[in-house]
Amino acid sequence: MIPESFIQELLARVDIVDVIERYLPLKKAGANYQACCPFHSEKTPSFSVSPSKQFYHCFGCSAHGSAIGFVMQYAGLGFIDAVEELAHSAGMQVPRIVAHNQQEQKRKAPLTELMARAMTFYREQLKASPKAIDYLKARGLTGEIAARFGLGHAPDAWQSLEGIFPDYRDPALLECGLVIENDQGRRYDRFRDRIMFPILDQRGNVIGFGGRVIGDGEPKYLNSPETPLFEKGRELYGLPQARQAIRDSDTVIVVEGYMDVVALAQHGIGNAVATLGTATTPNHLHKLLRQAAKVVFCFDGDRAGRKAAWRALEASLEQLADDKMVGFLFLPPEHDPDSFVRAEGAEKFRQLAAHPTTLTEFLLRELASHVDLATAEGRAHLVHEAKPMLQRLAAPILRVQLTKALAEAAALTQAEVEAECGIKPLARGRPPPPKPRGRAAPRQLEHQLLELVIRRPERAARLPLQQMAADTPEGLALHAIAAAFEHGELPAGGVGLLLEHFRGSPQEAVIGALAAALAEDIDEGALEAVFNDALDRLRQSGLAQEIAALSAQARTAALSPDERDRLKALLTRKAQGGGGRPAEPSKGG
Ligand code: UTP
Ligand code: MN
Repeated sequence: MIPESFIQELLARVDIVDVIERYLPLKKAGANYQACCPFHSEKTPSFSVSPSKQFYHCFGCSAHGSAIGFVMQYAGLGFIDAVEELAHSAGMQVPRIVAHNQQEQKRKAPLTELMARAMTFYREQLKASPKAIDYLKARGLTGEIAARFGLGHAPDAWQSLEGIFPDYRDPALLECGLVIENDQGRRYDRFRDRIMFPILDQRGNVIGFGGRVIGDGEPKYLNSPETPLFEKGRELYGLPQARQAIRDSDTVIVVEGYMDVVALAQHGIGNAVATLGTATTPNHLHKLLRQAAKVVFCFDGDRAGRKAAWRALEASLEQLADDKMVGFLFLPPEHDPDSFVRAEGAEKFRQLAAHPTTLTEFLLRELASHVDLATAEGRAHLVHEAKPMLQRLAAPILRVQLTKALAEAAALTQAEVEAECGIKPLARGRPPPPKPRGRAAPRQLEHQLLELVIRRPERAARLPLQQMAADTPEGLALHAIAAAFEHGELPAGGVGLLLEHFRGSPQEAVIGALAAALAEDIDEGALEAVFNDALDRLRQSGLAQEIAALSAQARTAALSPDERDRLKALLTRKAQGGGGRPAEPSKGG
């Protein structure tokens, strides 16, 4: 397999005009080049090559593609041979490698390996530390649970890792965050005398650690820094250990702390995971809602906990669907899940978790607590605050439910709230589509969007994907392009690059067809005209303003000779319907 990055580099390096000219003579026609189409017989040229799009297209037979596509089609070569051919002509060597993903894995493998060895070391050290064992015991944990979560102990020494990594100067140790280097270049272990919580990714690889001080001390938890392995906003502590329990209950409980996860598991509640010292992100939600129908946030009962819950709510809005549910469990202020389950028992916790505050309840209650619903102003404020959240809510039926509840609280009708918030009511008399995802864009709009995105793939980054269905070829293509762009697989560039990316994918046909259609219009020229027209109007208005200013000045004070000249010139230009040319800067004065 040829790495995609190479294809991109190749297409960026070669010019389609040069490539095609090697095979047939091209004639310049405006911004593009023309020829009689080599793929069907014709007398008048309808084969066009666009250097700006790096794309060819025949109006007669609809042949189209990138430089690679041309060589394939013209020379009858397969994709790889065409790439070889082009690379050869550009003096480039085609790298043959395994898939991008595997490449990424390969790059990370040495780091993952170091982390795994560190975990093993910390676990062994725990056995040798009565102090650490006593601490965990005092927190109600058994050896079995400690083993399940791979808990360990980092010894109370500056370079204990030197014992297992003889090459303590290995740059990889620094890169994966296990050691710290000071200004003098001296290295020491990041984690010293702490209870170690290994953080695993979905595959079970160790990607980071959380280290708790034994007893009191600052910081209470020390975490691995962000590394190539560890991206905090994406990972969830305890996910691999919780997977089975999540599947069994179709529910995942999200808590704040390492100890909360471990303590709940200790009490038989195995479906808890924790965000890692960061707020809940939409990415977290996306991950969680893929694995369970129900996500229950259980944060501390204090103010900080409520704030965290609100942020989780905000992160949920765009990820929700009508067959999913997000709930909130508020513990008494003095408790976190760990202390609660130890004080009150698992059964009590289970009961609470089974009936969480719903997202709509929490949202309305929280918003209502900031306004005075007894006044018209307060009720108006409520709708004002709720409006953007309502609009972001991706579950259409739930959105209607929330609209209803909001209308009731605000003493408005549902229709009034819908109109104010720009919410389309559900289709009447028809069942909702099977997998409702806030279908806002009819196919035609998607078609248009796709066209615009094909022109400039970087536009994909601005698509509101949550509101876009993926049940039409265009919708699917938009999602696919956006995903490719988000993963950095698609640099901004010509249409040819885009086409090559999707070669062989289900999206190839629709993207290819639209790209071909794009080549037919006089887009660049027309856009240039629109631009020029706008510039003209801008200049006209500038002219008018300057005339008005000088005239006003003339009424109250004398104009300098230069200013009089200027005014005369401006008036003449205006009389000529001018402004087409930029105003000359006035000299002197
Ligand atoms: P808490 O302060 O609520 O601690 O932090 P906790 O989970 O109750 O821990 P115990 O019970 O005292 O052992 C919640 C989470 O916030 C992050 C950690 O992920 C922690 O689990 N945190 C907290 C840090 O990263 N650093 C800190 O210094 C404190
Ligand atoms: Mn705690």
